Amino acid sequence: MNYNKISHEIFSQLKKIIGDEYVINDEYNIGIYSKDYTEDFRFPPEVIVKPETAEQISEIIKLANKENIPVYPRGGGTGLSGGALPVFGGICLSMERFNKILELDEVNFQAVVQPGVITEVFQIECESKNMYYPPDPASRGSCTLGGNLAECAGGPRAVKYGVTKDYILGIEFVSPTGEIINTGARTIKNVTGYNLTQLIIGSEGTLGIITKIIFKLLPKPKHKKVLLAAYDSIQDCTASVAAIFQAGIIPSALEFMEKSAIKAAEDQLGKVFPNNHAAAQLLLEVDGNYEDQLNSDIETIAGVLENFNVIDIVLAEDNQRMAEIWALRRCIGEAVKSISAYKEEDTVVPRSKIPELVSGVKEICERYGITSICYGHAGDGNVHVNILKGNATEDVWNNELEPAIEEIFKLTVSLGGTISGEHGIGYSQKKYLPIAMKQNELDLMKQIKINFDPNNILNPGKIFV
Ligand code: LAC
Ligand code: ZN
Repeated sequence: MNYNKISHEIFSQLKKIIGDEYVINDEYNIGIYSKDYTEDFRFPPEVIVKPETAEQISEIIKLANKENIPVYPRGGGTGLSGGALPVFGGICLSMERFNKILELDEVNFQAVVQPGVITEVFQIECESKNMYYPPDPASRGSCTLGGNLAECAGGPRAVKYGVTKDYILGIEFVSPTGEIINTGARTIKNVTGYNLTQLIIGSEGTLGIITKIIFKLLPKPKHKKVLLAAYDSIQDCTASVAAIFQAGIIPSALEFMEKSAIKAAEDQLGKVFPNNHAAAQLLLEVDGNYEDQLNSDIETIAGVLENFNVIDIVLAEDNQRMAEIWALRRCIGEAVKSISAYKEEDTVVPRSKIPELVSGVKEICERYGITSICYGHAGDGNVHVNILKGNATEDVWNNELEPAIEEIFKLTVSLGGTISGEHGIGYSQKKYLPIAMKQNELDLMKQIKINFDPNNILNPGKIFV
């Protein structure tokens, strides 16, 4: 890709658009903004800009088109597929000053929010008004809503409540040619023209920079309960997942953790899970407005799990215990990665196929001499497969990893699934995209990109090889 470097002149023009203090290129900041949470990738931008308005972004984008400079939008920098990495240098466009909740509408259960708001801050604000924003990515304390939209973040509650895209009524975004575009309306229903909102959501910052979001919210459920169910075999554990739904229950979370994932979390937090000797556990949560209903749901669930040889079921006795269990679950991602060099995959299959997926992953990794740790959102079939270097030789790690991942992805697709449920393709997964898509499907997507971004200046080097 032949992009121009940022000249002194362009640097001055950026300062003119947004003010001197928001155009940054010192070594320390370049270091910070050259990475996200994806493996150990490092791609330094030439400059970091921190605009405050859509109009300023529009001007920056127009300048970038004129001067042939790539622009990399960035939220909290917590992405797990390298979506924000400035792979061709250029401008890192940080959305951190778009940090205001503009409106919380308690009558219509809606909110109008800037994209740089931290997800957890938004959740807490909504809950203080008895409203509920269910999407709950593990990085909620540092990721931003704009990044959540760009990657269509999911998390544990997706099994009952859906993912980020299910809560968006409309957005304002700046197109890759610098147009400020509004989509959607403040209505639940809308069949007025193409659904541009949903085209931008999950487009990983390649089709537009989101500058405002209209959310749809829910009333906050009054009660919840959390259980841990332990099994002697991964097979029994994963096979019980689909049966819970067949018994008529939709848990508000249904997470799977194999023993080594639990161990990593315990080591990270210096705490212990009950039944940590078990081969695998499910973390189940049910929520609703009536405690009696939840108690009866739990009885139904326990009955189902007994048919799958569950060895113990532990109910979190109070809110503090629930929070501790969730803290352990949330830290698994980080904990697993701190063990050794790793590669994280985000496989997703119909939930009844999880047993085949997990046993297939184990068989493939064993054959290649690589360690795997599986955990994730079993209720929606989304299994995070972490492949660890562990004791593998450099030779095995450098040469056997890619074919092993290809096999895992081919298995995933053959089970009716796909290669990313919630982390995106971004930079790190793009070479595998053809496993999940035919050429004519990829071509159609590329045509959309060319139409939106004829000079390919917005987040280039992502999704497509
Ligand atoms: C999680 C992140 C890695 O589920 O998606 O913990
Ligand atoms: Zn996840």
